[in-house]
Amino acid sequence: MIGDKKVLFSGMQATGNLTLGNYLGALKNWVKLSDEYECFYCVVDEHSITVRQNPAELRKRARALLTLYIAAGLDPEKNCIYYQSHVSAHAELAWILNCFTYMGELNRMTQFKDKSAKHADNINAGLFTYPVLMASDILLFQADVVPVGIDQKQHLEITRDIAQRFNGIYGDVFTIPEPYFGKAGAKIMSLQDPAKKMSKSDENPNGSIYLMDDPDTIIRKFKRAVTDSEGQILYRDEQPGIRNLIDIYRACTGKSVEEVLAEFDGKGYGELKMAVGESVVDQLRPLQSEVERISKDKAYLDGIIKNNAEKAGYYANKTLRKVQKKIGFPERIR
Ligand code: TYM
Repeated sequence: MIGDKKVLFSGMQATGNLTLGNYLGALKNWVKLSDEYECFYCVVDEHSITVRQNPAELRKRARALLTLYIAAGLDPEKNCIYYQSHVSAHAELAWILNCFTYMGELNRMTQFKDKSAKHADNINAGLFTYPVLMASDILLFQADVVPVGIDQKQHLEITRDIAQRFNGIYGDVFTIPEPYFGKAGAKIMSLQDPAKKMSKSDENPNGSIYLMDDPDTIIRKFKRAVTDSEGQILYRDEQPGIRNLIDIYRACTGKSVEEVLAEFDGKGYGELKMAVGESVVDQLRPLQSEVERISKDKAYLDGIIKNNAEKAGYYANKTLRKVQKKIGFPERIR
């Protein structure tokens, strides 16, 4: 708790072009929850270097991501929006928690398996211990809730396991966080292969809607979306392409499955695709114009970056000092 509010923590990697999956699965829920909680939204640039990055590009993307958080509607005066690399406590706690995490647990992480298959020439130790840094992010702020997409479920589980193990040895040090998944949009699939999650690193750009795609591109990608030969609009496992389109539509419009099915009863796939495309264009238009407006204001952004790094550092260091004391590191002399 901070004051009378529970704490929310979440983050995104500053790599690749953000997709509609990132927006509907995470960012949109962040905005929805932001009034209710004391919120920390991190640009996790330290996680990004588990895959080789071009330095200038990383810097640019990190700033663009921070701008996007604000453009999506997160007020940076109320929500702490900051870069992970500006708060050294993340890396310090990660070292400590590495010593409370088992190789066997990390070996089971599906994201590690996927990423090492994709980057076979760079299976580094950071990629392996990635979930420990993520656990540190969350536990440093004593977060109660962590809004993420379903793909992060396993990382939330290991975070809870590490926290419980630590608390079991040293007493109640960490709050045990709960994941938060949205009703619709927690798992947006590729438009070209509905068995695969929509991802920034997809080689086929038609599979993903990027947040900065223009309206024509968005509509074109939806027109090409892979469906099936059933010819009826139903929400079921046998029709993953249609189900994905319905999920996107639900997440954009707030409608229920029943409402969407009633709306498209007797209609064709073409009509559904157009309606979903337009709902996405409507969602992204204000976001895109806000990004453009805010990114021009360098002094404003720099001020936010500075103040919020200090605020995040204050809370993070409080937890870190407590942990250091518990495990027996010598006290600082002041
Ligand atoms: P990242 O950067 O891959 O994704 C950011 C957020 O977007 C969600 N997401 C999706 N949701 C629905 N459908 C999709 N197709 C889709 N693709 C991505 C992700 O679930 C995530 O919520 N390890 C994290 C970043 C991280 C983090 C943290 C998150 C680091 N530390 C602490 C929460 C708390 C990641 O790689 O997310």
